[in-house]
Amino acid sequence: MPHREHFSILVIEDNEGDFVLIEEFLLSEFEDATITHAQNYTVAQKLLVEKNIPYNVVLLDLSLPDKNGIELIYEIVNYSGNVPIIVLTGYIDFEFGVKSLSLGISDYLLKEELTALNLYKSIIYSVERKKITATLEESEKRVRSFAKQLSEIVEEERSRIAREIHDEFGQQLSGLKMSLSSLKKHADPSNDIEPVIDALLLDVNQSISTIRQIANELRPALLDKLGLFAAIEWLVNQFQNKSGIETRIYIDIDQPPIDKSVEINIFRIFQEVLTNISKHANASLVNIRVENNNGVVNMKIIDNGRGIKSSTLHNPMSMGLLNMTERANLIGAKLNISCSAQTGTMVELIFDVNVKERVPNKKALYY
Ligand SMILES: Nc1ncnc2c1ncn2[C@@H]1O[C@H](COP(=O)(O)OP(=O)(O)OP(=O)(O)O)[C@@H](O)[C@H]1O
Ligand SMILES: [Mg+2]
Repeated sequence: MPHREHFSILVIEDNEGDFVLIEEFLLSEFEDATITHAQNYTVAQKLLVEKNIPYNVVLLDLSLPDKNGIELIYEIVNYSGNVPIIVLTGYIDFEFGVKSLSLGISDYLLKEELTALNLYKSIIYSVERKKITATLEESEKRVRSFAKQLSEIVEEERSRIAREIHDEFGQQLSGLKMSLSSLKKHADPSNDIEPVIDALLLDVNQSISTIRQIANELRPALLDKLGLFAAIEWLVNQFQNKSGIETRIYIDIDQPPIDKSVEINIFRIFQEVLTNISKHANASLVNIRVENNNGVVNMKIIDNGRGIKSSTLHNPMSMGLLNMTERANLIGAKLNISCSAQTGTMVELIFDVNVKERVPNKKALYY
């Protein structure tokens, strides 16, 4: 029984005979179909750009007089937006078919095997699949935007707490220290109070440095004052002192201007990578390199430890690793993690400082 719903179909086909056959198949399956015919790429592109008719599906012949193959696919995928594209072609090329699917094509049919029914099925499946994908993409977008907001709120809150601790406690302890110093100056040397004051001063100094440490760990002041690279050097220094792992850092550029929201995400990625090394790697050496290739900053952290198991790397429950990937996606950076039991782990972060508008990568939430 023919399909009742209205369907608008763009057929991009230069061969008149093939078009007539396709049209016949379509009309036998769709009761209410508007079929638009484009005989070449130029006409098809114009029709897709004008978007006068919201097409439900595009049928595409792969060898047109003015464009063909992969290049044609790229262009039509680009101009079709969310409209599913089904490739109809005359030559049997399975590999090419599979590749075209990964480029955004919904289905790949051979003209020699085409029947009204398999064309109909392919169209209906492709349209339904596209709807499901669009819904998934939409909900993924919402999750990402929520994650971004959450991360900004957490950072703001950390900043606020760090400021309060530093300013309030810090000031009070500094006041106490001054009072103790003044007390010491005016103390009567005859009544043995001086050693007690010295011990108190020692405690107060210790508390001041602990408070500085806590505030810095919550939100490194250096990051806001001197920028990302200075904060990374500070972090690496802290890491080396605490873990005892020899760490070499090489930064071949001056810090380029980087957006604050990007800086904090990169800093948190570094923090997680270094924490992971001290917790899990059993490494004796860490090499960090920051290089600049015409504005594309490449950051590598390499440890010579036991490496991350591939099953762990792809486990969606590895929250630290997942957060790193999410943070990189959020700022439009690329994060590669490669590892082996022989050579250890390498985490590589690549981002272009010249990109003004940071669009999150379209990468899946779980990798
Ligand atoms: N540099 C590394 N060398 C060896 N193994 C690593 C390294 N980094 C991570 N791993 C392994 O990957 C696992 C997942 O890391 P992930 O950061 O996601 O979680 P975690 O560090 O165990 O916990 P969390 O980060 O949530 O506190 C770790 O448990 C560890 O087995
Ligand atoms: Mg971790």
